[in-house]
Amino acid sequence: MLENPFITKGYESAEYFCDRDTETNELISNIQNGRDTTLVSPRKFGKTGLILHTFETIKKKRLKYDTLYVDVYATLSLSDFTKTLAEGILLTFPERTSIGKAFLAFLKGLRPTLTYDSVSGTPQLQFNYGTSAEKEYTLKSLFEFLNTRDRDVVLAFDEFQQITEYPEKNVEALLRTYVQSMRNVHFIFCGSKKRLMAEMFTSANRPFFSSTSTLTLDRIDSSKYAEFIEGHFKDAGRSIDDDALVWILNWTRRHTFYTQSLCNEIFARGGDVTLSLVKAAAQYILERESSYFLQYRELLTRQQWLLLVAIAKEGSVSQLSSTKFLKQYGIGSITNARRAAQALVEKELLLTVESKEKTEYMVYDVFLSHWLESEF
Ligand SMILES: Nc1ncnc2c1ncn2[C@@H]1O[C@H](COP(=O)(O)OP(=O)(O)OP(=O)(O)O)[C@@H](O)[C@H]1O
Ligand SMILES: [Mg+2]
Repeated sequence: MLENPFITKGYESAEYFCDRDTETNELISNIQNGRDTTLVSPRKFGKTGLILHTFETIKKKRLKYDTLYVDVYATLSLSDFTKTLAEGILLTFPERTSIGKAFLAFLKGLRPTLTYDSVSGTPQLQFNYGTSAEKEYTLKSLFEFLNTRDRDVVLAFDEFQQITEYPEKNVEALLRTYVQSMRNVHFIFCGSKKRLMAEMFTSANRPFFSSTSTLTLDRIDSSKYAEFIEGHFKDAGRSIDDDALVWILNWTRRHTFYTQSLCNEIFARGGDVTLSLVKAAAQYILERESSYFLQYRELLTRQQWLLLVAIAKEGSVSQLSSTKFLKQYGIGSITNARRAAQALVEKELLLTVESKEKTEYMVYDVFLSHWLESEF
């Protein structure tokens, strides 16, 4: 049992994971029906958590799949991608397992240098390519290895939008070719850079166009989140007032990471949970982060800063070009506002929520939003 049930990083087990039943089932159904999935949402909504929870569920239900999670966030090239995939396979399937044994034997044929980190013991591979054809051959072999196991493999690539940054040409087309030919590997492509993911998977002229089923992760349902939070306090022999629960979910906008962080802080304080305790915990978090938040002012232009503060004060804004809004916050012309908004979206300081009727802007980081609102 965890001392604090509200985790703020990684995945522990179903007990500490709220809901996402529909999404988990959809992922599993895609896998079972031969569809690859593109999983998208803003940052910190719980994509990585959902993948790991789905893998856990597959194990619990004893479904006949091996699962493999590969985070390509830190990769800068196709060579890095290949190396990260190979290391992921090594890490997931240890030498004592049959797939692990087979993989080591298979790797020898590719003649890499394999070392183990002396502290963490994690495998580190180095492939030595003479030509780019050799590079592509290595990657293709890795996929083929996975495709020819006794069991099907579910392979999740986290932060997949990263591949658009690689210097090599035709990376998307190359990967698409491999992905398409794998009958026994089921892919989950996960990413948070909405524009990049959307372009990659929905532009008619891109290789991944309409090749996958898209799953967009939304905020967790408020009654389910309330039940989850209340349940964990009850399990610890503590009560939580209804108004406190409502306030937590509103103030954190049910943006998973922020809701978890606030609950973590409240839990750490001990005792029964009242509205005033919750507010004090929230205030404490803002103070803790304030020196970090202050740096943003230096990093932004005056227009960007003014717009960020304005949106924080409003909570959310859909009429950027309204004269009243521009005047009230001294932002200047519509062009100024649009340019600043675009820059802030690119820096991931503003989150956009699109619907048929409008685009809504919010400060991405919920804590930053409240801090700006109260300080300026
Ligand atoms: N359903 C859930 N119940 C409880 N906590 C969750 C849930 N989903 C995610 N979390 C927690 O919320 C935080 C953010 O989740 P996660 O890292 O999975 O988000 P993400 O969408 O992958 O973020 P990023 O885009 O930054 O990679 C983590 O601390 C995770 O433990
Ligand atoms: Mg993630």
